[in-house]
Amino acid sequence: MWSGRHVVVGVSGGIACYKSCYLVRRLVEAGARVDVVLTRNAAEFVRPITFEALSGRPVLSSLWEPGGALAHVRLGQEPDLLIIAPATANLLARVAHGMADDFLTAVLLARTIPALLAPAMNDAMYAASATQANIALLRDRGYAVVGPEIGPLAEGPSDHPGRMSEPDAILRHGLRILRARGPLAGKRVLITAGSTRESIDPVRVISNRSSGKMGFRLAEAAWLRGAEVVLVSGPSSEVSGPEISRRPVESVADLKREVAAQLPTADVLIMAAAPADFTVVAPEATKRPRQGGPITLVLEATEDVLASTRDLRKPGAFIVGFALETGDANAKARAKLERKGLDLIVANDALEPGAGFEVDTNHVTILDRSGIVGTFEGTKSEVAEGILDVVEARLGH
Ligand code: CTP
Repeated sequence: MWSGRHVVVGVSGGIACYKSCYLVRRLVEAGARVDVVLTRNAAEFVRPITFEALSGRPVLSSLWEPGGALAHVRLGQEPDLLIIAPATANLLARVAHGMADDFLTAVLLARTIPALLAPAMNDAMYAASATQANIALLRDRGYAVVGPEIGPLAEGPSDHPGRMSEPDAILRHGLRILRARGPLAGKRVLITAGSTRESIDPVRVISNRSSGKMGFRLAEAAWLRGAEVVLVSGPSSEVSGPEISRRPVESVADLKREVAAQLPTADVLIMAAAPADFTVVAPEATKRPRQGGPITLVLEATEDVLASTRDLRKPGAFIVGFALETGDANAKARAKLERKGLDLIVANDALEPGAGFEVDTNHVTILDRSGIVGTFEGTKSEVAEGILDVVEARLGH
């Protein structure tokens, strides 16, 4: 996703500079063309030669070097993105006040392209009202900001923000700035993921093999496209980014309650969860002993979450369901699309190797009322991108 992108990484003088080396390396590995701009203080922490070797390009730090004339204008206007990491308190103050007294601040004053700041400083310097006011001003002027986070500082442990976000977090935010240009940007997207659990007794449950992988990949992909994402998830070992609002649920009844609460404000619902189809009529209050011969569990069908929350949908909300079938998937999925009032349904076959539950890949067919819209095969991240391409194409109409 970084391939072919041109990124300027501006580095100001704080100890977090050492993490910027990794940031540059990751960008280059991902296929971006990276120009590094160092302040004089940054060059005291990490020498230009390090960044030159990592980026494979000359490092810029002065308006007076050969090639420096007008380079500040070029770098502030031609690339796809500027990332300032670390952005020290002093750099933020200089930029907020429109100073252009070195190469990096001149680039930022000449800037017309999107920019992301990754502040890093002592926690008291970050909390200082001057710094807070400068950051507020810069946000107002269109700068995006990632972090700082709470964590150990060079001075020792701290319970307050000050530590620069990790390179991976900076990269995710940078990618979001580049990718949030379609109809999902700014939309509220509700995604359900994973299995549910129905209690037999306080220890045992009825569940299914859904891992939640597809729903989690969809949540990340939607966030990267600029959506505000709420992820309602049954028990799952998958990890979601801190910017995704996670609502854990256990049973189908919990899932329904959470979907009902979120649905009235959702622009898009993607129901990737695999809710249990049956629940135990009278779960036991205490653990049932193993002895005592055969047992009979009396089950009843769970409520259909999509169908029973239909009236709570925001007018015009776009609804996507999933159908995991074992044979004749497309016909069965079409019937579910009608029954549950969906705009799209994503069908896959549980018996196909490399698709469905517990694997990292999938092979899906997307259908609407009039038939097949598209098919996607690949990692669940790739399939998530394919599904969201279709959703965005529909939202764009
Ligand atoms: N779904 C739901 N509530 C349920 C079961 C399923 O909202 N109790 C949703 C799923 O999240 C999915 C879609 O409905 O988006 C289809 O799920 P599936 O289990 O295939 O549908 P069922 O109605 O349970 O049909 P079947 O009888 O084939 O299990």
